Amino acid sequence: MNLISSDDLSKEQIMDIFEIADSIKEEKEELTLKEHAVQALLFEKTSTRTRVSFEAAMAQLGGMSVYIDAQTSQLKRGESFADTARMLSSYCDFIVARLYSHKNMLELANNSSVPVINGLTDLEHPTQALVDVYTIRWAKKNLKNLKLVFVGDIAANTANSLMLTSVKLGMEVALLGPKGYMPESFYFNKSREYGKIDTYSDPAEALEDADVVYTDTFVSMGQEAEAEKRKKMFAPYQVNTKMLELAKPDAVVMHCLPAHRGEEITSEVLDGTRSIVWEQAKNKMLLAKAILLFVSKE
Ligand code: CP
Ligand code: NVA
Repeated sequence: MNLISSDDLSKEQIMDIFEIADSIKEEKEELTLKEHAVQALLFEKTSTRTRVSFEAAMAQLGGMSVYIDAQTSQLKRGESFADTARMLSSYCDFIVARLYSHKNMLELANNSSVPVINGLTDLEHPTQALVDVYTIRWAKKNLKNLKLVFVGDIAANTANSLMLTSVKLGMEVALLGPKGYMPESFYFNKSREYGKIDTYSDPAEALEDADVVYTDTFVSMGQEAEAEKRKKMFAPYQVNTKMLELAKPDAVVMHCLPAHRGEEITSEVLDGTRSIVWEQAKNKMLLAKAILLFVSKE
């Protein structure tokens, strides 16, 4: 199967992926892919964690990776995503792609004969959301009745995927951002079908009883032209010590990284005792393995 949207996975499928991850973590059994599996890593945007975690995961599962970027491949000269998918899927067993446009990701997936995994688009970051919720379960032991507050750019790709995945697993989601700045309606309405989610502009209201405080950059890749405007608009929503005091005393802090210290989060909070960002980042490779194993058998 493909993993393009967080909505592609049912609650049961998410739990299956977590079970595979647990099994790998606890070294219960040696899980491998077919011998000499090859994944294409097709990246139009920069990446450190997603690229390296999938590449390392594939190596440790016994396969190998081929990295292709938009600058040095024929994508640069306009070869379509459909034709690229047809060709790549005749060489490789998986395609992990990071593209600007979600529409192009769908074109890639619809024309591939092997599983396509979305490693981020303008609209979604489904593998990150799995990492995030898996990490929350590790920190809090149970997901039910937890309240997650996404602070800042509540219309970001990370927010879209995280809201869907969190509510599906029984968490309550509060989206905290500037008055009048709305989440992507498709993801917000879809999440509403699965569970409890609301928008807030008042930090005290949103963070009351919060168990998890999550933030992401104010300026996502592709939004560089609006950087100054966005930084100004989101500035009141920086996750800092004062804001954190509004959450539960045992609330944890998360960030998908890379962080922009002093913008969406302070160093004091990022490096503080309530931050679980390094465990979160570490889990990217574990979940990359679980996702590769899961999509290969579905
Ligand atoms: N969190 C995340 O996706 O990081 P990269 O952009 O480094 O892959
Ligand atoms: N919202 C961020 C996530 C980076 C992992 C971006 O798209 O740049």
